[in-house]
Amino acid sequence: MTEHRITLLPRQGRDAAPPARVRDGERLTIKVLRYNPADPASVPHLQRYELEQSPGMTLFIALNEIRDRLDPSLQFDFVCRAGICGSCAMVINGRPTLACRTLTRDVGPEIVLAPLPVFELIGDLSVDTGKWMRAQSERLAAWVHLREDEPDLTRLEQRMEPELAERIFELDRCIECGCCVAACGTARMRADFVGAVGINKVARFRLDPRDTRDDAAFYELVGDDDGVFGCMSLLACHDVCPKDLPLQTQIAYVRRKMAAQGFGG
Ligand code: SF4
Ligand code: SF4
Ligand code: FES
Repeated sequence: MTEHRITLLPRQGRDAAPPARVRDGERLTIKVLRYNPADPASVPHLQRYELEQSPGMTLFIALNEIRDRLDPSLQFDFVCRAGICGSCAMVINGRPTLACRTLTRDVGPEIVLAPLPVFELIGDLSVDTGKWMRAQSERLAAWVHLREDEPDLTRLEQRMEPELAERIFELDRCIECGCCVAACGTARMRADFVGAVGINKVARFRLDPRDTRDDAAFYELVGDDDGVFGCMSLLACHDVCPKDLPLQTQIAYVRRKMAAQGFGG
């Protein structure tokens, strides 16, 4: 059975917890890259905010404190505060990760924040990952393709081996935060690149015995430079994924399968 690890604060991605860099009561400086594309007068600039480090403070808490006390115009996103919704992803000191899972004491005393690249900027730290993810899911037809045109609602559930269900669940843990895309050199260069998140989806549906698509059908979706052959295998995606998805293994696996298709295998 696959072991599911729960990532606990202050751990970030696969890194071990670093020693605290700021003590409670010490000063934090947060610099935010600000820009509002909807305002013709807006010019990108770094804005500086000063806060006091408090016990257990996350960047989510710090940003809310800034918005509540210092600057109500600051834009950023969050929903769950628990590493589940993926909406608080941003670039923190150069690394794409989740604000709600980042302790300020581990990344301070000076913290530089920028919005995720690649995605459409809404304003300041807020980007539209949903639009990108939806377009990509439609392109990859990221749903189980059943044999029948019309599902038979009276039929009993199909049984699945628990081990296989666990393997599928492992890949389904993606929260579509966009960190892997933001860290990806190919995604910066190719607007249509599916990214690790897309390749992971192909791996997930390929595993699912209810999905009737074969490798030739998946090759049509990702058998080119905007798909798995555009990946440079430098694995920044794997390093930054906050859910510790096995992206390295999945990219290698899908590439092997698609290469075999390309050579008539
Ligand atoms: S694969 Fe990981 S980094 Fe990429 S969108 Fe999913 S959870 Fe985020
Ligand atoms: S390994 Fe591939 S998908 Fe991952 S960051 Fe590099 S180019 Fe992007
Ligand atoms: S607020 Fe949902 S993942 Fe951070």
